[in-house]
Amino acid sequence: MKKNKVEKDTWAIVTGASKGIGYAFCVYLLERGWNIVAVARNTDSINDLAKNFPNQVVLKLNLDLSDLDSCDKIAEETKNLKVSLLINNAGYGVLGNFRESSLEREMNMIDLNIKSLHKLTKIFVNRFQENNFGRIINISSVAAFLPGPGFASYYASKSYVLNLGIAVNHELKSQNSKVRLVTVCPGPINTGFWDRSRDNKSVSGQAKEEQSKALRNFARKSLNKSLKANNKDYFIIGINNIFLNKLLKFVPKKWAMKVVYRYNRKKNK
Ligand SMILES: NC(=O)c1ccc[n+]([C@@H]2O[C@H](COP(=O)([O-])OP(=O)(O)OC[C@H]3O[C@@H](n4cnc5c(N)ncnc54)[C@H](OP(=O)(O)O)[C@@H]3O)[C@@H](O)[C@H]2O)c1
Repeated sequence: MKKNKVEKDTWAIVTGASKGIGYAFCVYLLERGWNIVAVARNTDSINDLAKNFPNQVVLKLNLDLSDLDSCDKIAEETKNLKVSLLINNAGYGVLGNFRESSLEREMNMIDLNIKSLHKLTKIFVNRFQENNFGRIINISSVAAFLPGPGFASYYASKSYVLNLGIAVNHELKSQNSKVRLVTVCPGPINTGFWDRSRDNKSVSGQAKEEQSKALRNFARKSLNKSLKANNKDYFIIGINNIFLNKLLKFVPKKWAMKVVYRYNRKKNK
């Protein structure tokens, strides 16, 4: 077995697998021969996908990850499987000015984006370390790199994901572990994420054939990079996003936040 390469005949756990980015990850992994544990509150959309890959196993777990006991259930349900990849992808945001946005939704978002991701990362980094093998991919966002007026708690939650990931991966590398935690930072992609972040109840999502080329490209690029990474702690995906992120370093934060605030207010219409 090659150093730090993940075997393909093992299992990958994907949270937020029922639509959007998570569904695209599942398609990509199945095409490459992985077995999948698909986690979401409602995994019905995964049924057809499973039929298309008769040689692999797709295990569906209907769990609400904002309930932290769900993390223990994932650990329990997968304890006899040879899991070597965990993708912490489930997440959403709460658009709006901080004074007006719903505290209840923000607390639920923090439970999902931060606490459950933290708990699953802890459980699986320890499990992987027992065999000195395995990889965690945490999905953050380009929003992690600056404060986000108009979407404040979401941006802050993604900063947590990025900084936790960079620090833990540094520890792993310093301890000569072969386990890796790679953080992926997508830019805006057209998925059900935006409707949910506006608290639009008629969220359609993008499973199956609706999946855009952009989404498939994103899944391919981000997984290819993250599965091979040895030294890199995080990836920003997409030339425009990489360029914008570099540009941000030269722009006064006050200006950048003005642009971000305008962008987020538009997104909330
Ligand atoms: N789309 C973007 O522009 C963008 C940009 C940067 C980063 N991201 C990040 O990418 C990740 C995926 O977003 P997406 O765009 O694919 O959004 P999406 O299309 O809304 O999909 C979100 C996924 O998470 C699941 N999920 C939501 N709440 C959950 C809960 N409480 N428990 C378990 N599963 C839950 C959803 O399934 P159920 O509804 O069935 O539970 C769904 O499978 C998120 O972490 C998001 O912050 C997205």
